[in-house]
Amino acid sequence: MLNGSGTFDAIAARRAFGDALLERFPFHAFVSKTITLAPREGNPPPRLWETPAGLINSIGLPNKGLDGFLALDLPELAELPVPLVVSVMGFSRDELATLVQRVGEREEVGLIEMNVSCPNVETGLVMGADPVETARAVERVRALTDRPLIVKLTPNASDPAAVALAAAGAGADAVSLINTLKGMALDPRTAQPWLGGRTGGVSGPAVRAIALEQVGAVAAAVSIPVIGMGGIASGRHAADFMAAGATCVAVGTESFRDPAAGRRIAGELAEPQPV
Ligand SMILES: Cc1cc2nc3c(=O)[nH]c(=O)nc-3n(C[C@H](O)[C@H](O)[C@H](O)COP(=O)(O)O)c2cc1C
Repeated sequence: MLNGSGTFDAIAARRAFGDALLERFPFHAFVSKTITLAPREGNPPPRLWETPAGLINSIGLPNKGLDGFLALDLPELAELPVPLVVSVMGFSRDELATLVQRVGEREEVGLIEMNVSCPNVETGLVMGADPVETARAVERVRALTDRPLIVKLTPNASDPAAVALAAAGAGADAVSLINTLKGMALDPRTAQPWLGGRTGGVSGPAVRAIALEQVGAVAAAVSIPVIGMGGIASGRHAADFMAAGATCVAVGTESFRDPAAGRRIAGELAEPQPV
């Protein structure tokens, strides 16, 4: 049981819950919020819109940048009682290379996840929406680290299985999916976009059926491990993703309702599932 990147702030949770968090940590491995090379402020508020079955977020990847993360956040995340996955996003292959190399040099880091849901400023193409772009990104960084590389796939691709195959062919050790689907909400009073970033990413129960289909298609296409996520809120849901071919699962939006959801769902998954 992992967390979806960006959905559980372990540093803030430690401040809120103290060392009790470490004794009953909700996940078997922790995935950091995505970091970028330069610091980012993120999108203007509002950043969240609640839907009847989940969220639309336009957080916009606020983060301290690579140097700030390595100096300030990594030492704190290294105190967690589980392996650490650091999520990185580059707006060019060179940026990605710097991120992967410098993050991979740190012994506190167990694995690296490449969030490819962003445009490559050099080609204008969303890296993870295109198999060739994805393969080039993985090829560029593969030799720069001996850490296992996870490629986080976007559901906003016409053929996620083709992207997964390209990632695996270029040397990815695992894929994770799904990231959020593109969505929008309007302010009911002004009919203008509610979110500061205009559009956002849809997550939670509303995306579960889409995620399950994509996890199944990807798992059928590749032989590397698949980390399944998207709307998982119970052991039954997690079992469905495993049955569809996921090797392990992650919880995202449900942790907003219940910070201990990861632990609860892992416990439910360990119980025999009623048929
Ligand atoms: C508030 C919020 C922030 C997120 N931030 C990131 C992020 O920084 N990097 C990333 O790869 N995915 C990010 N995601 C996507 C989640 O990791 C996950 O892929 C997605 O939400 C689907 O899972 P869920 O339905 O269980 O939330 C974010 C999702 C939410 C709701």
